[in-house]
Amino acid sequence: MPPGTVTPVKLWFCPNDELAPELAVALAAHWLDADEQETAGRFLFEHDRRQYLVAHALVRRVLALESGIPEAESVIWRSSRGRPFLQKPAEGLPRGGRQLDFNLSHADGHNVLGVVRRHRIGVDVERLDRGHRSLDVISGTFAREEREWVARAVGRERDRRVLRLWTLKEAYSKGRGLGLGLSFDSFAFTLAEDRGVVSFRPPDDDCPERWRFVELEPAPGVLVAVAVLVGPDEEPVLQLHHGFPWRRAAPEEFVLPRPLRAGPCPCPC
Ligand SMILES: CC(C)(COP(=O)(O)OP(=O)(O)OC[C@H]1O[C@@H](n2cnc3c(N)ncnc32)[C@H](O)[C@@H]1OP(=O)(O)O)[C@@H](O)C(=O)NCCC(=O)NCCS
Repeated sequence: MPPGTVTPVKLWFCPNDELAPELAVALAAHWLDADEQETAGRFLFEHDRRQYLVAHALVRRVLALESGIPEAESVIWRSSRGRPFLQKPAEGLPRGGRQLDFNLSHADGHNVLGVVRRHRIGVDVERLDRGHRSLDVISGTFAREEREWVARAVGRERDRRVLRLWTLKEAYSKGRGLGLGLSFDSFAFTLAEDRGVVSFRPPDDDCPERWRFVELEPAPGVLVAVAVLVGPDEEPVLQLHHGFPWRRAAPEEFVLPRPLRAGPCPCPC
């Protein structure tokens, strides 16, 4: 890549309310494949089914816009760890290129979908008002320096620190396709007071220089983290879209900064 090449990192933030329930059912009936239909049919609670239908309609709509493959014709396969990938046609994607990676997160009525060309992306969304008890369990999985940083705050600020770290850790491990298979105390973030990653210490098998991170709060009380793997000379620019993508619309744009201090790099990158 020539130095300074701009790499778009596309993000869709779509609350369930953006798609009327009957419309979500109708789109899902036309677009979802047999496995997705079967999964949707297994939910016990209607709100869980609705979340799944909106999330998967969003995935298929965005992949159609980005790849040029119609919604119902995208073939989505999963790795042995459950990470979904778009199957590329041998002749390349109708909208150009061979590579397209995506990652989905859905929680409590909110859906976030990230898409990049050439590289890998991981995303996570969490609400700030999830139960306090689960936050203690979550922070117990963190690296020592992260637990110490969390312990220096109290009340809501403490909860916020736990969830900022958690969303970043999930986004990174999902970007790598490992999900919760990656030990969350094997890597650590140092965060700025309000928002932003100051430094990143990766697990032993990865390099801090390759990753960029961003934290967003696209709606009050909703935290989103994005982790993107980029080439050394690339300038990733995050394009944030709100709502269900019926049509192409101008996104908000943010540059993804490098962590101010990268941890010691184990490879000759
Ligand atoms: C990925 C994982 C961290 C999701 O955590 P979560 O916070 O509950 O859920 P999120 O809403 O953020 O993300 C869920 C989405 O992530 C994606 N996903 C699933 N596994 C993934 C993985 N290994 N890496 C990246 N993304 C993954 C899927 O799109 C999934 O949604 P879908 O199932 O509706 O398609 C967790 O489910 C996990 O660790 N899965 C791996 C399990 C595993 O190792 N299985 C091996 C076979 S037993």
